[in-house]
Amino acid sequence: MTSAELPAPYGEGAATTTPAREATSPAAPAMPAGRIRIHHLQQAKDQGRHFAMLTAYDQYAAQVFDEAGIEVLLVGDSAANNVLGHATTLPITLDEMILFSRAVSRATTRAIVVADLPFGSYEVSPQQAVESSVRLLKEGLVHAVKMEGGADYADTVRALVRAGIPVMAHIGFTPQSEHALGGYRVQGRGEASQRIVDDAVALADAGAFCVLMEMVPAETANAVDAAVRVPTIGIGAGPGTTGQVLVWQDMAGLRGGRQAKFVKQYADVRSVLSDAARAYADDVRAGTFPGPDHTF
Ligand code: KIV
Repeated sequence: MTSAELPAPYGEGAATTTPAREATSPAAPAMPAGRIRIHHLQQAKDQGRHFAMLTAYDQYAAQVFDEAGIEVLLVGDSAANNVLGHATTLPITLDEMILFSRAVSRATTRAIVVADLPFGSYEVSPQQAVESSVRLLKEGLVHAVKMEGGADYADTVRALVRAGIPVMAHIGFTPQSEHALGGYRVQGRGEASQRIVDDAVALADAGAFCVLMEMVPAETANAVDAAVRVPTIGIGAGPGTTGQVLVWQDMAGLRGGRQAKFVKQYADVRSVLSDAARAYADDVRAGTFPGPDHTF
Protein backbone atom coordinates (compact mmCIF):
# COMPACT_ATOMS: atom_id res chain seq x y z
CA MET A 1 0.00 0.00 0.00
CA THR A 2 1.36 3.45 -0.81
CA SER A 3 1.01 6.55 1.27
CA ALA A 4 -1.25 7.87 -1.47
CA GLU A 5 -3.85 5.26 -0.54
CA LEU A 6 -3.79 5.61 3.22
CA PRO A 7 -6.17 7.71 5.28
CA ALA A 8 -5.04 10.79 7.14
CA PRO A 9 -2.75 11.55 8.67
CA TYR A 10 0.12 11.10 6.28
CA GLY A 11 0.19 7.52 5.08
CA GLU A 12 2.45 4.54 5.33
CA GLY A 13 5.46 3.42 7.23
CA ALA A 14 6.61 2.81 10.76
CA ALA A 15 8.68 5.46 12.48
CA THR A 16 12.15 4.54 13.67
CA THR A 17 13.38 5.51 17.12
CA THR A 18 16.65 7.33 17.70
CA PRO A 19 18.03 8.47 21.07
CA ALA A 20 17.73 12.22 21.69
CA ARG A 21 20.87 14.25 20.95
CA GLU A 22 22.39 16.84 23.25
CA ALA A 23 21.31 20.43 22.57
CA THR A 24 25.01 21.30 22.30
CA SER A 25 25.44 19.10 19.22
CA PRO A 26 28.53 20.06 17.24
CA ALA A 27 26.28 19.93 14.18
CA ALA A 28 24.33 22.95 15.46
CA PRO A 29 24.23 25.52 12.63
CA ALA A 30 25.96 28.87 12.70
CA MET A 31 23.09 31.12 13.73
CA PRO A 32 23.22 34.24 15.93
CA ALA A 33 23.04 33.98 19.72
CA GLY A 34 20.10 36.38 19.72
CA ARG A 35 16.84 36.36 17.77
CA ILE A 36 17.06 34.57 14.45
CA ARG A 37 15.72 36.62 11.56
CA ILE A 38 14.54 35.63 8.14
CA HIS A 39 17.80 36.83 6.56
CA HIS A 40 19.62 34.23 8.67
CA LEU A 41 17.53 31.53 6.99
CA GLN A 42 18.50 33.00 3.62
CA GLN A 43 22.17 32.93 4.71
CA ALA A 44 21.76 29.24 5.57
CA LYS A 45 20.66 28.52 2.02
CA ASP A 46 23.35 30.75 0.51
CA GLN A 47 26.03 28.99 2.58
CA GLY A 48 24.71 25.48 2.01
CA ARG A 49 23.62 24.92 5.63
CA HIS A 50 20.45 23.29 6.91
CA PHE A 51 18.12 24.48 9.69
CA ALA A 52 15.44 22.79 11.77
CA MET A 53 11.82 23.69 12.31
CA LEU A 54 9.31 22.04 14.65
CA THR A 55 5.72 22.75 15.42
CA ALA A 56 4.93 24.11 18.88
CA TYR A 57 1.58 24.99 20.38
CA ASP A 58 2.30 25.69 24.04
CA GLN A 59 4.70 27.37 26.43
CA TYR A 60 6.85 24.47 27.64
CA ALA A 61 7.33 22.72 24.32
CA ALA A 62 8.23 26.09 22.78
CA GLN A 63 10.71 26.82 25.56
CA VAL A 64 12.36 23.40 25.25
CA PHE A 65 12.69 23.66 21.47
CA ASP A 66 13.92 27.26 21.65
CA GLU A 67 16.58 26.27 24.18
CA ALA A 68 17.50 23.24 22.06
CA GLY A 69 18.35 25.59 19.20
CA ILE A 70 15.47 24.86 16.83
CA GLU A 71 15.65 27.80 14.46
CA VAL A 72 11.98 28.07 13.46
CA LEU A 73 8.89 27.22 15.51
CA LEU A 74 5.67 26.74 13.62
CA VAL A 75 2.37 27.32 15.35
CA GLY A 76 0.75 24.99 12.86
CA ASP A 77 -2.93 24.68 12.20
CA SER A 78 -2.06 21.04 12.91
CA ALA A 79 -2.93 22.12 16.47
CA ALA A 80 -6.40 21.14 15.26
CA ASN A 81 -5.50 17.45 15.04
CA ASN A 82 -2.59 17.36 17.50
CA VAL A 83 -4.03 19.38 20.38
CA LEU A 84 -7.74 19.98 19.89
CA GLY A 85 -8.76 16.47 18.86
CA HIS A 86 -10.14 17.27 15.40
CA ALA A 87 -9.73 14.82 12.53
CA THR A 88 -8.35 17.46 10.13
CA THR A 89 -6.79 20.91 10.25
CA LEU A 90 -9.89 22.58 8.84
CA PRO A 91 -11.94 23.40 11.95
CA ILE A 92 -9.34 25.47 13.82
CA THR A 93 -10.24 29.16 14.01
CA LEU A 94 -8.14 32.30 13.78
CA ASP A 95 -8.93 33.07 17.43
CA GLU A 96 -7.65 29.63 18.46
CA MET A 97 -4.51 30.11 16.37
CA ILE A 98 -3.91 33.43 18.09
CA LEU A 99 -4.18 31.81 21.51
CA PHE A 100 -1.59 29.11 20.65
CA SER A 101 0.61 31.70 18.93
CA ARG A 102 0.73 33.94 22.01
CA ALA A 103 1.78 31.03 24.23
CA VAL A 104 4.59 30.02 21.88
CA SER A 105 5.80 33.54 21.13
CA ARG A 106 5.97 34.52 24.78
CA ALA A 107 8.04 31.43 25.59
CA THR A 108 10.77 31.96 22.99
CA THR A 109 13.74 34.26 22.87
CA ARG A 110 15.58 33.02 19.80
CA ALA A 111 13.48 31.07 17.31
CA ILE A 112 11.51 32.69 14.53
CA VAL A 113 7.86 32.01 15.31
CA VAL A 114 5.63 31.40 12.29
CA ALA A 115 1.87 30.91 12.52
CA ASP A 116 -0.40 29.24 10.00
CA LEU A 117 -3.21 31.20 8.44
CA PRO A 118 -6.04 28.77 9.20
CA PHE A 119 -8.59 27.58 6.67
CA GLY A 120 -11.12 30.31 5.94
CA SER A 121 -8.96 33.19 7.13
CA TYR A 122 -7.29 34.23 3.84
CA GLU A 123 -8.87 32.66 0.75
CA VAL A 124 -11.56 35.28 0.11
CA SER A 125 -9.23 38.14 -0.78
CA PRO A 126 -5.75 39.56 -0.22
CA GLN A 127 -7.42 42.03 2.13
CA GLN A 128 -8.83 39.21 4.25
CA ALA A 129 -5.35 37.62 4.36
CA VAL A 130 -3.77 40.90 5.46
CA GLU A 131 -6.41 41.43 8.17
CA SER A 132 -5.96 37.89 9.52
CA SER A 133 -2.17 38.10 9.40
CA VAL A 134 -2.15 41.46 11.17
CA ARG A 135 -4.05 39.77 14.01
CA LEU A 136 -1.52 36.93 14.13
CA LEU A 137 1.38 39.39 14.38
CA LYS A 138 -0.35 41.93 16.65
CA GLU A 139 -2.26 39.62 19.00
CA GLY A 140 -0.39 36.33 18.47
CA LEU A 141 3.00 38.07 18.57
CA VAL A 142 4.43 35.87 15.79
CA HIS A 143 7.07 37.03 13.34
CA ALA A 144 5.71 35.60 10.11
CA VAL A 145 2.75 33.72 8.68
CA LYS A 146 2.54 30.56 6.62
CA MET A 147 -0.08 30.23 3.93
CA GLU A 148 -1.15 27.17 1.96
CA GLY A 149 -1.70 27.53 -1.76
CA GLY A 150 0.03 27.72 -5.13
CA ALA A 151 0.59 30.34 -7.80
CA ASP A 152 -3.05 31.48 -7.52
CA TYR A 153 -2.07 33.06 -4.20
CA ALA A 154 0.80 35.15 -5.57
CA ASP A 155 -1.30 38.33 -5.32
CA THR A 156 -2.09 37.53 -1.71
CA VAL A 157 1.62 37.08 -0.95
CA ARG A 158 2.30 40.44 -2.61
CA ALA A 159 -0.36 42.13 -0.45
CA LEU A 160 1.10 40.61 2.73
CA VAL A 161 4.64 41.58 1.84
CA ARG A 162 3.42 45.12 1.04
CA ALA A 163 1.96 45.22 4.55
CA GLY A 164 5.34 44.25 6.02
CA ILE A 165 4.35 40.68 6.85
CA PRO A 166 6.87 37.93 6.05
CA VAL A 167 5.17 34.99 4.32
CA MET A 168 6.22 31.36 4.19
CA ALA A 169 4.54 29.65 1.24
CA HIS A 170 3.25 26.08 1.71
CA ILE A 171 2.87 24.01 -1.47
CA GLY A 172 2.71 20.38 -2.53
CA PHE A 173 0.28 18.56 -0.28
CA THR A 174 -1.72 21.25 1.50
CA PRO A 175 -3.75 19.70 4.33
CA GLN A 176 -6.45 22.38 4.26
CA SER A 177 -7.32 21.11 0.75
CA GLU A 178 -7.34 17.45 1.70
CA HIS A 179 -10.94 17.00 0.56
CA ALA A 180 -10.18 18.56 -2.81
CA LEU A 181 -6.96 16.56 -3.16
CA GLY A 182 -8.64 13.27 -2.31
CA GLY A 183 -6.88 12.69 1.01
CA TYR A 184 -3.26 12.64 2.10
CA ARG A 185 -1.49 11.99 -1.19
CA VAL A 186 1.98 12.68 -2.47
CA GLN A 187 1.87 15.63 -4.90
CA GLY A 188 4.11 16.53 -7.81
CA ARG A 189 4.97 13.10 -9.14
CA GLY A 190 6.07 12.79 -12.78
CA GLU A 191 4.62 15.46 -15.02
CA ALA A 192 2.93 17.16 -12.06
CA SER A 193 6.39 18.09 -10.81
CA GLN A 194 6.54 21.15 -13.09
CA ARG A 195 3.38 22.60 -11.53
CA ILE A 196 4.99 22.46 -8.09
CA VAL A 197 8.08 24.21 -9.43
CA ASP A 198 5.90 26.85 -11.12
CA ASP A 199 3.98 27.41 -7.87
CA ALA A 200 7.22 27.87 -5.93
CA VAL A 201 8.66 30.31 -8.47
CA ALA A 202 5.44 32.37 -8.58
CA LEU A 203 5.25 32.60 -4.78
CA ALA A 204 8.95 33.36 -4.34
CA ASP A 205 8.74 36.03 -7.07
CA ALA A 206 5.78 37.52 -5.20
CA GLY A 207 7.99 37.90 -2.12
CA ALA A 208 7.60 34.74 0.00
CA PHE A 209 10.75 34.48 2.14
CA CYS A 210 10.66 30.70 2.15
CA VAL A 211 8.89 27.84 0.39
CA LEU A 212 7.71 24.85 2.42
CA MET A 213 6.88 21.65 0.54
CA GLU A 214 4.86 18.82 1.99
CA MET A 215 4.78 15.26 0.63
CA VAL A 216 6.49 15.70 -2.71
CA PRO A 217 9.09 13.38 -4.25
CA ALA A 218 12.68 14.34 -3.41
CA GLU A 219 13.34 14.93 -7.10
CA THR A 220 10.56 17.54 -7.25
CA ALA A 221 11.75 19.19 -4.04
CA ASN A 222 15.28 19.38 -5.43
CA ALA A 223 13.96 20.99 -8.62
CA VAL A 224 12.08 23.57 -6.52
CA ASP A 225 15.15 24.26 -4.40
CA ALA A 226 17.19 24.85 -7.54
CA ALA A 227 14.52 27.09 -9.08
CA VAL A 228 14.11 29.55 -6.21
CA ARG A 229 16.70 31.70 -4.46
CA VAL A 230 14.86 31.60 -1.12
CA PRO A 231 15.32 28.78 1.39
CA THR A 232 13.09 25.73 1.12
CA ILE A 233 11.70 23.57 3.92
CA GLY A 234 10.53 20.01 3.53
CA ILE A 235 8.21 17.62 5.29
CA GLY A 236 8.16 14.39 3.37
CA ALA A 237 10.23 16.08 0.64
CA GLY A 238 13.58 14.33 1.00
CA PRO A 239 16.94 15.67 2.16
CA GLY A 240 17.56 18.35 -0.49
CA THR A 241 15.72 21.27 1.12
CA THR A 242 17.40 23.95 3.24
CA GLY A 243 15.28 23.12 6.29
CA GLN A 244 13.19 20.27 7.60
CA VAL A 245 10.02 20.39 9.68
CA LEU A 246 8.14 17.81 11.71
CA VAL A 247 5.11 17.96 13.97
CA TRP A 248 6.66 17.78 17.43
CA GLN A 249 4.37 15.07 18.77
CA ASP A 250 5.47 12.86 15.86
CA MET A 251 9.16 13.70 16.31
CA ALA A 252 9.05 13.00 20.05
CA GLY A 253 6.75 9.99 19.93
CA LEU A 254 3.79 11.45 21.81
CA ARG A 255 1.20 10.60 19.18
CA GLY A 256 0.25 6.94 19.11
CA GLY A 257 -0.65 4.84 16.10
CA ARG A 258 0.97 4.55 12.72
CA GLN A 259 3.31 7.26 11.62
CA ALA A 260 3.93 8.65 8.20
CA LYS A 261 6.85 7.26 6.20
CA PHE A 262 8.64 10.60 6.53
CA VAL A 263 8.45 10.75 10.33
CA LYS A 264 11.51 9.84 12.33
CA GLN A 265 10.74 9.36 16.00
CA TYR A 266 13.53 10.66 18.26
CA ALA A 267 12.02 9.72 21.62
CA ASP A 268 9.16 7.78 23.15
CA VAL A 269 7.49 10.54 25.14
CA ARG A 270 4.18 8.65 25.11
CA SER A 271 5.74 5.80 27.14
CA VAL A 272 7.54 8.20 29.48
CA LEU A 273 4.28 10.02 30.26
CA SER A 274 2.30 6.83 30.56
CA ASP A 275 4.87 5.30 32.96
CA ALA A 276 4.87 8.48 35.06
CA ALA A 277 1.06 8.58 35.23
CA ARG A 278 0.86 4.91 36.23
CA ALA A 279 3.55 5.29 38.90
CA TYR A 280 1.77 8.35 40.33
CA ALA A 281 -1.59 6.58 40.40
CA ASP A 282 0.00 3.49 42.05
CA ASP A 283 1.49 5.72 44.78
CA VAL A 284 -1.82 7.50 45.36
CA ARG A 285 -3.74 4.24 45.58
CA ALA A 286 -1.11 2.76 47.93
CA GLY A 287 -1.25 5.85 50.15
CA THR A 288 2.49 6.53 49.62
CA PHE A 289 1.99 9.89 47.91
CA PRO A 290 2.17 12.44 49.36
CA GLY A 291 4.81 11.29 51.86
CA PRO A 292 6.65 13.45 54.39
CA ASP A 293 8.85 15.06 51.68
CA HIS A 294 5.80 16.45 49.93
CA THR A 295 3.74 17.45 52.95
CA PHE A 296 3.76 20.83 54.79
O1 KIV B 1 0.41 22.76 10.50
C1 KIV B 1 1.45 22.11 10.34
O2 KIV B 1 1.90 21.36 11.22
C2 KIV B 1 2.12 22.20 9.07
C3 KIV B 1 3.30 21.30 8.87
C4 KIV B 1 2.79 19.99 8.38
C5 KIV B 1 4.29 21.89 7.96
O3 KIV B 1 1.75 22.94 8.23
